[in-house]
This record gives sequence, structure tokens and C-alpha cells, in this order.
Amino acid sequence: MKRKAGNALRCAIVLGLAGWMGLAMAQQAPAAHPWSDAKLSPDQRADLLLKQLTQDDKFHLIRSYFAGPRKPEDKPVPPGYIGSAGYIPAIERLGIPAIQESDAGLGVASSERMRPGDYATPLPAGPVTAATWDPKAAFRGGAMIGGEAHAKGFNVLLAGGTNLMREPRNGRNFEYAGEDPLLAGTMVGEAIRGIESQHVVSTIKHFALNDQETGRTTVDVRIGEQAMRESDLLAFELAIERGKPGSVMCSYNKLNGDWACENDYLLNQVLKRDWKYPGFVMSDWGGVHSAAKAVNAGLDQESAAEIFDKQIYFDAPLRDALAKGEVKQSRVDDMTRRILRSFFAAGVFEHPAKKAPIDEKANLAVARETLEAGAVLLRNQNALLPLDVAKLESVAVIGAHADKGVLAGGGSSLVTAKGGNAVPGLKPTDWPGPVTYHPYAPLKALQSMAPQAKVQFAGGEDVAAAAALAAKSQVAVVFVQKWAGEDFDARDLSLPDGQDALVAAVAKANPRTIVVLENGSPVAMPWLEQAGAVLEVWYPGGDAGNGIANILSGKVNPSGRLPLSWPRDVSQLPRPELPGAGGGTPPESVDYAIEGANVGYRWYQSKNIQPLFPFGYGLSYTTFEHGGLKVDAKGGKVTATVTVQNTGKRAGADVAQVYVQVPGTKVRRLAGFAKVFLKPGEQRVLSIPLERKLLADFDTVKHGWVVRGGEYVVSEGRSSADLGAPVATQLAGDGTK
Ligand code: GLC
Repeated sequence: MKRKAGNALRCAIVLGLAGWMGLAMAQQAPAAHPWSDAKLSPDQRADLLLKQLTQDDKFHLIRSYFAGPRKPEDKPVPPGYIGSAGYIPAIERLGIPAIQESDAGLGVASSERMRPGDYATPLPAGPVTAATWDPKAAFRGGAMIGGEAHAKGFNVLLAGGTNLMREPRNGRNFEYAGEDPLLAGTMVGEAIRGIESQHVVSTIKHFALNDQETGRTTVDVRIGEQAMRESDLLAFELAIERGKPGSVMCSYNKLNGDWACENDYLLNQVLKRDWKYPGFVMSDWGGVHSAAKAVNAGLDQESAAEIFDKQIYFDAPLRDALAKGEVKQSRVDDMTRRILRSFFAAGVFEHPAKKAPIDEKANLAVARETLEAGAVLLRNQNALLPLDVAKLESVAVIGAHADKGVLAGGGSSLVTAKGGNAVPGLKPTDWPGPVTYHPYAPLKALQSMAPQAKVQFAGGEDVAAAAALAAKSQVAVVFVQKWAGEDFDARDLSLPDGQDALVAAVAKANPRTIVVLENGSPVAMPWLEQAGAVLEVWYPGGDAGNGIANILSGKVNPSGRLPLSWPRDVSQLPRPELPGAGGGTPPESVDYAIEGANVGYRWYQSKNIQPLFPFGYGLSYTTFEHGGLKVDAKGGKVTATVTVQNTGKRAGADVAQVYVQVPGTKVRRLAGFAKVFLKPGEQRVLSIPLERKLLADFDTVKHGWVVRGGEYVVSEGRSSADLGAPVATQLAGDGTK
């Protein structure tokens, strides 16, 4: 027994010692790692940790490795990476976790080449989220993809695409949030806030004026300071205010002669001085062209240099520049501190990203609900929609591989959905492809929507067969597609592959034809007058088949409003020609001063041009009345009050849009908005605060926003072209007594 007693005693002593050690260690932890004290501010923690870093630690943190596929001759990536866009190994002795960076804004991007067999939930294209005009929807989407990133081990998500749609042919419009700085800034800001809420650092990108893909790595964008501050940069300013992204990704292009990633005006003067941005600037992949100039202009981290830059600037060349005094040590310390601060601010140290289960069903629902709230009903003749599904006996489903899935955009934002590419082999199969259809087939969903009906599919290649099927069906649903992607722009606005002829033939065979658009940007619709209904779903994302069926059946009343103006044709654009688009030599420079801050609807207003569909437009299955606009200005705050009533027989949502014409300008600017859900007959009084920066001009002498004062004309309505009686209100200018 003794032995036992002896054992018990020994055991007690060991346990006691272990307990004491553990306590000591725990007590020692804050002493050894005081920066791990989450009660301190991110700034305090970054200051404490910075003191412990060697110079090599600092150089370790200011440069990431590309963690994607490499050529055999490339140097290997240091161990510990997850196949993705970027990676920095951990600094274990200091408790600094590895930095694992994944693309992008529409979900955790992956591919067979990056992470064979992995998949994630694809959000719909960026314009869908913007078209919800519902900041909560944007937050939910961001939180969903941020959560998936975290559960896959990523602590940086290269999201926050905010470039305005200046160019309707831009291949990456599907990643962004349309043409208006307030709407884009609000919606992307909320998406970023959602991502950061999951303890994942979000970027905001591509900073700035990277508004076309043609010549994206060489083109010099020309635009005046006030114009860019009141358009693209305003979208970034609002999004950064709202979302607090840990990082800003500078873009490939030049801006007024200087590369964006070594542009002192953009990075030091605007971002860090005027906006007091505390986070770090990372380059785009291949966006760095110098060491000292880039560092002194405000670049903090070089991305994937060993593969994408002409040389690795943030190592030997930067060390040389330090030695020569071209760069101060304090600047290298500042670069490192900014990186650390962003990771503390996102809670990355306390909530390390690691493998965890993902609620796929719930996440798919987030994607589908985003689509249901953001799809835009562009046309609905004789209330063709919603379909009376109980009475359906025959439905023709035509085109765009709707029997297999829904189209996604190409490039670094491409997500591999569960089940992979539903239509493999479509060209281009390599970058920026593969052309991918997410496996959420509308045909299957439409069959489930009307189980009693005969629902048949025709691919559309055989136009006569498709028209014949339509002719013998009660209703025809034609899916049309236009693939877009990173690294290229569309040559024009037309649909490819003879789809215009297909739609025309089907609509001729059956006037009860519904066209569903799967596109990244506005397209020409020569058959529009012949179509019964047109529903815009862009690249519609996860569970889209069911989302589309829910809208066509009336289970969901569409409430999307266009986040962009829809041109009739390219002659309406500031630049009808897009030199180099689709091949050929890209231009040296592009002149955005033509429209300046008058992007999109402001351009059309300034030129008295009627686009095909105006910014903010969208139909509903019910009707709404807006009225009683009042404007109150108190203590520098301006609020618009309006009553919205659902005057129809179905519940639905509408968006009250408030536009302001400031003294001395001809165009109205969106200055506030609110989405409201109303039952039939219900009415609501909405109080909508107006964003002060939209009432102000940017003063390039004061480097700030100035409300000039005078008569401000406020209008409210259902779109930029459907406004009620204006209300004029006097505002005192800034600085006036
Ligand atoms: C790309 C894109 C950027 C992306 C990065 C990493 O070239 O411009 O949006 O996040 O490289 O893939």
C-alpha cells in the first residue's frame, strides 16, 4: 500500500510542481509576451511587439511568398503554407502566427491547382450584393466568406474590391459594387466589416483607379485631384471608414505618372495623412517597381515578389537603401508596426485561424438570400412574372448550360464550389479561366418549382429546336451568358455565341419568354422589346438555381435595384472606344478626366443622355408610393424624411433613394438611401441621414471636404430617373457663422 501511498505522494508532488510551473508560465506569459494581453489596444500591442523584433524579423514580415503553383525552377515556398495567394511563415519565438492569404471578395478562392479537392461557398457577383442596397446583406456575405476563410486556416482575405464601374466593359466589374461612391463605399465597407468580424484581415482593393483590365499593369491613368477624390477615392474613403480593413492593396496601374504602389500622393498624402489610415499597404502581385521609392511613398509589404516582381525589392535592395540612408530605419519600423497592428486589431492572435467545420447549408443560404435580394427585375410585360406555378403544364428551359449550373467570373476571385466545375473543358481552360459553371442547375430547381409540369431543356446551339420547344411550351425561360474575367475587358457590349438570335427566335415562338442574364457587366439586348420579362442575376453564386426559381415563382419578390447605369450602346460612354480591349496594344494612358467625378448616372445627367436602364432601377411584383419628402438640417447634419407605402397586393421591399444637387453643379448625387420591407398596404416613414461628403466639394487646397453653403435641391424616389418633387433647402457653408 505503501508503494501506493508513496506513488500518491510522488504524484501529488509532481502535480503540484506542474501546477506551479504552469502558473509560473502563465504568469510569465504576459511578462514574456506582454503584447498578448488583449486588454491593450492594437497600437499598444504593436509597439510592445515591435521592440522584440530583430531587423531580420522585420524584413521577414514586409514580404510575402506566393503560395500557389510554381514552376520546377522556382525556389520552393518555405514549409507551413496552405496553397493560396500569399504566405509568411510564423515567428514562433514571439508567438507571431503564419500569415496565410487567400483570395478574394466572392468567397475563398481555390482551384485544382491551388488546393486539389478543396471547395468553398461562392457568393454572387459583387453587383448582386450592391444591388440589394442592404448593408446588412453585405455584412452577412462578408461574415460568411470570412468565416469560411478562418475555418480553412486563412487569416487574410484579399477582398474588398471597390473600383467604380467607369468602364462597362471592364472584365472585373463582376468583382466590384457598381458606379456610385456612396453605394459602393457603403456595401463594400460592410462586407469588409463582416470579414474582419471573423478575425480575418480584409484588404480593400485595387487602390486606385484600376478601372479597366486592358493594360492594367502598364496604363497611366490621368485624372484631376478633385475628380478622383469625389469618385473612386470617395468610395475607398467611405468603405475604409465603415469596414476598417487591415490592409489596402495598391493597384498595378500608374496614376498621373507614378505607379500606384509607389505613389506618394495616393499612399502617404491621401491614405495615411488625410484618412489617417493605421493599417498596412500591400502590393498587388507584381505591382512593385522599386525599393526606396516605394517604401518612402508608403508601400508596407511586397507581395509574392519572388514570382511576380522583376526582382525582390524588399530585401537586398531595401537593405542597401537603408545603408545608404535613402530609407530611414523608422520607416521600416513603421511598415512592420502597421502589419502587426492590423493583425492585433482583427484579433488574429487570440483567434488563430485553423481547420474547423463549416456549416455548408447555412452558408449556401447566405449566398442564395443575397441573390434573392439583389437580382434585378428589368422587364415584366403584362405581369408575366411571377409564374402561377400550380397552373404550369409545360416549361421550356433554354441555353447557358442551365441544365448543369450557373456561370462564374474568371481570374483570382474564382471559387471552386462543392462538386467542382459543372461544365469542364470550356475555353479558355487556363488563366484567367477555366470558364466555370457552379453546379446549381436552374433546370433542376425549375422542375422542383413545378413538379407537375413538363420541364424540358434545349441547349440553344440549335436555335430552331429551341424555338420549337418554346412554341409548344406555356412559358420559355432562356438563360444567356457572357463570361468576363480578370486581365481582359470585353470588346463591346454584345452577347457572344449567337445568343441574340437565340433569344429573338424563342421570343418570336412564344411571347411568354423570360430572359435570365448571367453576366458581369451590362450587355446589349436587341431583343428586349420582344421579351416578356428580363431578370438580371449577374454571376449568381451558391444555390442560384433555387434562388432564381424562388423569384420566378413569386416565392421571393425581387427587390434588387441597379448599382450601375445600363448604356444603350457604347456611343453613350465617355470613351466609346476601348483601345486594346480583347487584344492589340494597350494604350499608354487613359483619360478619366473626360468624365472626372461624373461616373455613370452623373455622366448621363451631365450630357442629357438616357441610358437603357437608369442607376437605381428595378421592378417589383407589387407597387409602391413615395411621398412627403422633408429635409431637416441641424448641427451640420442633414436628414431626409419620406413616406413609402406598399400599394400592391404582395409584400415586397423598395429602396428610397435620396439625391442632392449641390450649388453650382448640374448633376444630382446619391447622398442617402434606405431599403424598406412592407406588407401590402403598409406604409413607413423613413428618416435617411445624408452623407456629408456628398453635400460637400473636395477642396484641393485644404485637402478636405467643404460644404459651400447655399441652396441644396433634394429629391427622393425609386431610381435616379424616377424622383418626386424636389425640396430646396438652405445650408450654411462650413466656416460661416
Ligand atoms: C491579382 C489581382 C488581385 C489578387 C492578387 C492575388 O493579380 O489583381 O486582385 O488579389 O493578384 O491573387
